[in-house]
Amino acid sequence: MSEAGTGTVGDHWADFLDVAEEAAIAVLAQVGKGDKVAADQAAVDGMHRAFGGLPLSARVVIGEGEMDEAPMLYIGEQLGLGGLECDIAVDPLEGTGLTAAAQDGAMTVLAAGPKGSLLHAPDIYMEKICAGPAAAGKLRIDAPLEDNVQALAKALSRPTNRLVAAVLDRPRHEEIIAQLRRMGLTVRLLSAGDVGPAVATCLPDGDVDLVVGTGGAPEGVLTACAVRALGGTFCGRLRPENDTERRRLEEMFGQDAERPLGIEEIVHSDDVVFAATSVTDSFVGPRPRRQGGGVWLSSLVVCRSGVRRVCRFVALDEH
Ligand code: FBP
Repeated sequence: MSEAGTGTVGDHWADFLDVAEEAAIAVLAQVGKGDKVAADQAAVDGMHRAFGGLPLSARVVIGEGEMDEAPMLYIGEQLGLGGLECDIAVDPLEGTGLTAAAQDGAMTVLAAGPKGSLLHAPDIYMEKICAGPAAAGKLRIDAPLEDNVQALAKALSRPTNRLVAAVLDRPRHEEIIAQLRRMGLTVRLLSAGDVGPAVATCLPDGDVDLVVGTGGAPEGVLTACAVRALGGTFCGRLRPENDTERRRLEEMFGQDAERPLGIEEIVHSDDVVFAATSVTDSFVGPRPRRQGGGVWLSSLVVCRSGVRRVCRFVALDEH
């Protein structure tokens, strides 16, 4: 652990790992219990508690909502014991429904960067396209999907029928899914959770080449943090669904709030950390396994110094 107030955000990767793990421990008792609200609340409590003890001066920029709607991890909340100033983005439980149903793909997630480095994306939708480092600079959110797929195939030196895409299984994505299949791609349909597969596009063992479609904007910022540290490709475009959201966006970002956003506009620094711990089996690793008085946890930490897959045993303080 680095000394308070000094160093880079990346120096604190182990602190952020602790936070992701503590949130996963907090949610253990809720896995498969059918209550996604309780599962989310447990993760929020665990993450909030863990942040409280860190030698950092962390400000929530992507959180559980505005101060009047969320008692913990609200946007603007200051966390930590003091020290290096940083911005944090949290998704305490990515895949609340997956957790409640004990289905694959749930994880606790957070990202951090220097103060002022993360886009303050509101909780609306974002159109996203994400791929690994080979496609860096070659995909455009405003290009036809076919052009992006051909560019990716060329960058990876593989025919389109050897590419794997992951897409949220939603009616709004019917045309995207049909187009990808017409081009011969293998399409993995996600019932929820687009962060994990998107980060996986940048990992050598990720087994997915492309994530495309519309999902949460906060999740987009978290994804972009990992992708930036991994040198991958991420483009987004905020997608308000109604006039209230559109007005709010314009207040925040001006008239061109719906313009294509490159990764540098979403994450303004290379000094970012992304940490995630599996809650159910996920690309991060196997789900937590209890053993004796503790639990084995699998996590992924990404920062510019590299990727760490961490599997460690944590004693549980259960009474
Ligand atoms: P949870 O709220 O259940 O954690 O779901 C998260 C998520 O699946 C994100 O990964 C994704 O970006 C977004 O929700 C998709 O939203 P929607 O379910 O409205 O299509």
